[in-house]
Amino acid sequence: MEIKAQADTPFGATVEGFDHTTATPEDVKALKETVYTRKIAILKGQDLTPGQYLGLGRLLGRPEVYYEPMYKHPEYEEIFVSSNVPKDGKQIGVPKTGKFWHADYQFMPDPFGLTLIYPQVIPQKNRGTYYIDMGRAYERLPQDLKDELVGVRGRHSVRKYFKIRPSDVYRPISEIIAEVEEHTPPVTQPLTFKHPMTGETVLYISEGFTIGLEDADGKPLESDLLQRLFEATGQLDDTFTHENIHLVTPEQGDLLVWDNRSLIHRALHTTTPEPVVSFRVTVHDERKLYDGLTA
Ligand SMILES: [Fe+2]
Repeated sequence: MEIKAQADTPFGATVEGFDHTTATPEDVKALKETVYTRKIAILKGQDLTPGQYLGLGRLLGRPEVYYEPMYKHPEYEEIFVSSNVPKDGKQIGVPKTGKFWHADYQFMPDPFGLTLIYPQVIPQKNRGTYYIDMGRAYERLPQDLKDELVGVRGRHSVRKYFKIRPSDVYRPISEIIAEVEEHTPPVTQPLTFKHPMTGETVLYISEGFTIGLEDADGKPLESDLLQRLFEATGQLDDTFTHENIHLVTPEQGDLLVWDNRSLIHRALHTTTPEPVVSFRVTVHDERKLYDGLTA
């Protein structure tokens, strides 16, 4: 196994020759260290069946099964399928997922530390995923803005991007919204926390899932602080040229592993009608989102 940091940037690394069937505990540790410090590791030349992919995921942690069944792989419920390609005339998984800034499971009480994406069918044009490292984004905030964050909590919900399911057709929208609120009520987390693996401070917000801010007593903040943070971190830049934004465009055989504590991401969807299929596995590592989380 050979780990190569991407030159001239603190972001990203490629990993050649990682074989999950022969990897030693030291290899796995080195890979995870790379993910925490470089934020994303791209395992090159992977040729895995869905079952083998899940096996690789299990080496890194305990898989979390996605809570909405329509995303599940027909054989492996731990695999979340993003696809616009029907199989035998049937939709598998869900098309056009994640086209908004978010951290995975940010709206849940116990988000996992690692996300793995294994692209299966890669379009030619306008492909990839944008990332913002919210540790570095925090570091770059002006001091007066950092001072405003002390003691504040973020409120997160799936409500803005919950996808209507086939079974929701003909249901009143108010009933669906009430059900979403009941099954996945908003959760709050500290607006910043210390990354348990690296010690860096992470600003834990995303334009897709963070719906408000609260003071330490749970009272909603009426200020425009959240909007200013979205702006300052690059999440409102629809040209995607902000210095915080990195685009990663995978090649066939790449398997991406990233730090879901500090990275937020946003899918870049091809504008052509090309097929695109991607498998996702998400795992809890040895620690909670941050030390002290009791969920
Ligand atoms: Fe995602």
